[in-house]
Amino acid sequence: MNEIEQLRQEFNEKISSCQSLSELNDLRVSYLGKKGPVQGLMKLMKDLPKEEKPVFGQKVNCLKSELSDLIDAKKVELEEKEMLSKIESEKIDITLPGRKPNIGTIHPLNLMWEELEDLFIGLGYQVIEGNDIVDDLYCFERANIPKDHPARDMQDSLYIDENNLLRTHTTAIQMVVLEQSAPNPVKVICPGKVYRRDDDDATHSHQFMQMEGLVVGENISLSDLKGTLLFMARKIFGQDKQIRFRPSYFPFTEPSVEVDVSCHVCGGKGCPTCKGTGWIEILGAGEVNPNVLKMAGYDPEKVSGFAFGVGIERMAMLKYGIDDIRHFYTNDKRFADEFKRFE
Ligand code: PHE
Repeated sequence: MNEIEQLRQEFNEKISSCQSLSELNDLRVSYLGKKGPVQGLMKLMKDLPKEEKPVFGQKVNCLKSELSDLIDAKKVELEEKEMLSKIESEKIDITLPGRKPNIGTIHPLNLMWEELEDLFIGLGYQVIEGNDIVDDLYCFERANIPKDHPARDMQDSLYIDENNLLRTHTTAIQMVVLEQSAPNPVKVICPGKVYRRDDDDATHSHQFMQMEGLVVGENISLSDLKGTLLFMARKIFGQDKQIRFRPSYFPFTEPSVEVDVSCHVCGGKGCPTCKGTGWIEILGAGEVNPNVLKMAGYDPEKVSGFAFGVGIERMAMLKYGIDDIRHFYTNDKRFADEFKRFE
């Protein structure tokens, strides 16, 4: 009986100085485990006189459940303590300045693309993108550029095989649209990448983007083209802008024009950007060549149309004051960040 009492006291001292769950677990194993002192007391039973056995056994059992109750209670207490100290150590200092998330920007070419697309959608145009690899027929032949035509030299091309090439202009999309739409009216813009065998420099790239517009129907005239392009130039470069047509040549348009917009840097007085002329060339355009209409299945006596082709890089360079086309393709984040304010 003394031993039981001693054990109880010893245990009480140990458990009250116990600081952690792992210490508590060690204590449990050492006292209540198979080789522990409680089990040791049980073993003493066999040497006791018969009449003392039940009383002793009961006492040991009592001790055993008392100890395990104490352990359970201590466990709850320690768990709570550990949780509190964990919460304490994980406290967030809400006065610390936040970390700025590194948010990407819309690429200036996509900004320009979207601005142009929105503008023409607003005028009732349908957007058609087409394939990058096209049949020679649609890239050249249907655009009134036959195999031996000198105009093919203007656009050194990247051929995949005898008949297929990477489109050199988005006109290739328009020729497909025309064939599929004849004899019905058409009003589309065709944006997309185009490819030419060019050496890259500040103003040339072997791959760039165009957006071509095409309207075909009854009585579509050069003045409709002029009104449309004036509207576009003012939306993109400012309401006070003027445009002018200069005669030019494209095989698929007749008459053909090159279109200038009054310089947005100097307002037309003359500066280095417009090389002192007050005008900046923005695109090529014209009335659709009757031959092109005929090949696509239209009757050029009944319908007419206009077409224009905008370089998306060129427009973006003019609008945002970018001096080298290669900036668009080098993925320098500092360059892209400049355009956050235009989003
Ligand atoms: N396809 C011409 C080019 O790539 C642009 C253009 C389109 C000119 C439509 C006139 C009409 O240069």
